[in-house]
Amino acid sequence: MNISKSKVGTLIDEAEKELKGISETPRLDAEILLAKALDTNRFGLFTKYNEDTEVKTAELFSSFLKRRINFEPVAYITNEKEFFEDTFFVDSRVLIPRPESEFIVEKAAALLKNHEKAEVLDICCGSGCIGLSIKRASGCRLTLSDISQDALEVAEINVNRLFPGSTEISFVQSDLFSGISGKFDLITANPPYLSESDMKNFVVKELEFEPQNAFFGGKTGFEITEEILESVHNFLKSGGYFITELGFEGANFINKNYENLELTEIIKDYSGIERAAVFRKTL
Ligand SMILES: C[S@@+](CC[C@H](N)C(=O)[O-])C[C@H]1O[C@@H](n2cnc3c(N)ncnc32)[C@H](O)[C@@H]1O
Repeated sequence: MNISKSKVGTLIDEAEKELKGISETPRLDAEILLAKALDTNRFGLFTKYNEDTEVKTAELFSSFLKRRINFEPVAYITNEKEFFEDTFFVDSRVLIPRPESEFIVEKAAALLKNHEKAEVLDICCGSGCIGLSIKRASGCRLTLSDISQDALEVAEINVNRLFPGSTEISFVQSDLFSGISGKFDLITANPPYLSESDMKNFVVKELEFEPQNAFFGGKTGFEITEEILESVHNFLKSGGYFITELGFEGANFINKNYENLELTEIIKDYSGIERAAVFRKTL
């Protein structure tokens, strides 16, 4: 590719060809990466379709493309990922937010509809995408917690960008509930839930760039979720709710007898896959 002479449209076409076989969305990836190099968005890109790019922009794009060809996820190259109503800063310290986690946010927003200053805890928060989106939707007070200090640093970047100056968000580094005190109206979690065999079979290419402790949930994949389910009642107010994301077939592992907790709903995604479970504290 002659990078000094290329037009925007040509760069996209060439990059799409190079990304075939690497990405399932080669053209979209090419557009997002070129938009980033041009410091615009995809709409802005289309208005420049027949314009020549400057050499330094084309070189930057070419460096992005090399990283993508090496399977690095687009979101780590652009340092951003859209989730619910916001764009989150992400890098390799955190899992890239997945659209299926938005089901948790929607359910939480519905449960908190008439509860303006609810106390919400998002454990295993990573980038903070779930908790901060619930805050966006409900105006709650929020505690973000994760075992990884690196993840909490990214969550803090997102708090400073999305809720600058907020005094209603706090951070706790904690192995599940070990460092948590107090009681909450709602607790959410998207815990690691891949099994040993999932890790071997699925954590390849793009997924190898993401933090491995965000994936591994134990031998069956359900061990961390089970640990959370056994103690979450201690941190919920009476009538409070816990929503957790589930791994593939994770709903089959749910035991119906957790202390002071009733299973109220299994949320399915648009393809009918069981994505999340909702529990209510009974006492
Ligand atoms: C699947 S990621 C979810 C991140 C974020 N909530 C999201 O949906 O994008 C799981 C997160 O759990 C954290 N984690 C793993 N083990 C943990 C533990 N024992 N206690 C607290 N957090 C843990 C990881 O650091 C990671 O950020």
